[in-house]
Amino acid sequence: MAYLAPSILSADFSRLGEQVALAEQGGADLLHFDVMDGAFVPNISFGSHVLKSLVGKTGLRFDVHLMTEHPERLLGDFATPQTEFIVVHQEACVHLHRVIQQIKELGIKAGVAINPATPVSMLENVLGDIDLALVMSVNPGFGGQKFIPVAYEKIQLLASYREMMNASFLIEVDGGVKLDNALAVKSAGVDVLVAGSAVFGIEDIAQRTREFKELIG
Ligand code: DX5
Ligand code: ZN
Repeated sequence: MAYLAPSILSADFSRLGEQVALAEQGGADLLHFDVMDGAFVPNISFGSHVLKSLVGKTGLRFDVHLMTEHPERLLGDFATPQTEFIVVHQEACVHLHRVIQQIKELGIKAGVAINPATPVSMLENVLGDIDLALVMSVNPGFGGQKFIPVAYEKIQLLASYREMMNASFLIEVDGGVKLDNALAVKSAGVDVLVAGSAVFGIEDIAQRTREFKELIG
């Protein structure tokens, strides 16, 4: 079974609470927050106030994807009572090992993301420390982009490292995930699928969430 983490990036922010409730009703497992700073990625999305506005309003746990420079400066802000994972980018952290420890000291599970051009080997020395490895299947910055197939081999490689090391981190994929490739990414070894436009970009959010869960659940 795999988890579904709909990304609110594609939600209608004027109806955010209502739309999140629909994803929850449909059986979503986590809620994915794409935090963009206009520096690490060429777009600005939202800050911690958006997470905080949903605390206590949904039963879903938060999967926070920080696409920012100096994510270590922001960790405390995103450590809400519902935050399950904080995911930072390998490319944004000079002292990645330290940032992972800082996330864990907050009592939150630590994840690390790699961009499409970053090899899995860049994570090799932290795979024993992390709770989640996120393979970006688009260049981060925008929702609604096309899946980049190099992600498949990276997912498979991570799954084989995990087995070899007897490690327990989850593998997440993010970007361009749709109903028609959900099963393929799951078969490659993914545990958590992020889907933005494929869930919040359509009219019937609850029904679409159910369709995903029937496929991967
Ligand atoms: C990309 C973000 C993704 C994105 C996914 O910068 O990290 O989470 O919102 O959106 P879709 O599913 O539309 O590609
Ligand atoms: Zn994301």
